Amino acid sequence: MAYRHLEISHRDAVRTIIVNRPDKLNALNRETLNELTLAFVQAAQDDSVRAVVLTGAGEKAFVAGADISEMNGYTPMQAQGFSRTGQQLMSTIERLGKPVVARIQGFALGGGMELAMACHLRVASEKATFGQPEINLGLIPGFGGTQRLLRLAGRGAAIELCLTGGTITAQRAYELGVVNRVVAPAALDETVNALADQLAAAAPLAAAGILDAILQGGETSIDQGLEFETQAFALAFATEDMREGTTAFLAKRKAVFKGS
Ligand code: COA
Repeated sequence: MAYRHLEISHRDAVRTIIVNRPDKLNALNRETLNELTLAFVQAAQDDSVRAVVLTGAGEKAFVAGADISEMNGYTPMQAQGFSRTGQQLMSTIERLGKPVVARIQGFALGGGMELAMACHLRVASEKATFGQPEINLGLIPGFGGTQRLLRLAGRGAAIELCLTGGTITAQRAYELGVVNRVVAPAALDETVNALADQLAAAAPLAAAGILDAILQGGETSIDQGLEFETQAFALAFATEDMREGTTAFLAKRKAVFKGS
């Protein structure tokens, strides 16, 4: 399927989704949000896809935020719809059931930082810049930023970033736990590809169980989270991949996972 604002590519079991509006620093207008949701749903439904990489076109920006020119004319009801559309996209990514890696090469601001935080892992170039600058526009984050930043970096950092509207370096984002890895710009692709390949080779049903247990566990009591983990653990024993993984270990050979 052809998209107006996205480019999609495949490498083995890894699908790469590129937000492709470089002249607008890949800003997220409504159409791009809708296309992204569709692209992620397609990735979820395609059994040949085992991991997804999300990035922005060009060197300058991952995504520089929600589209300010579009928001400028919104009524409160339109803004409500825009926020819900953005939040639904972020939830679709978070609950994809397949690992999603954000490859962040430049500005990840506002909706761009929110998009990165909805991914399961974030790999950033040393040159990347993060921030929630909505307050500078008289706005607040509307695609889940207040909630995901709180959960990733804690209350102090979330309040500081959202209230000051300032930017932070990739290194600072790493120190705050927002980013998993920071690498030299020249090493970004190699690092992201190696990570995505590793994730794509992992047992997919086990990966889905881990994502479910961690994401749901973060939103509930420890007792409920532990029960969820037990159920996901037990379910893994219904898979051929579990037999293959344990048998391969005992036979001292590399496991080959089929997702069944
Ligand atoms: N929405 C819509 N358009 C955006 C955008 C956004 N979030 N961010 C950048 N653009 C557009 C600019 O308007 C400009 O378009 P133009 O060439 O038609 O004028 C183009 O992208 C290039 O951006 P520009 O501002 O000229 O680049 P810069 O290098 O001078 O500055 C930024 C880069 C990221 C610092 C600056 O673009 C910026 O502050 N963007 C907004 C960030 C933001 O507030 N995001 C949160 C939105 S809720």
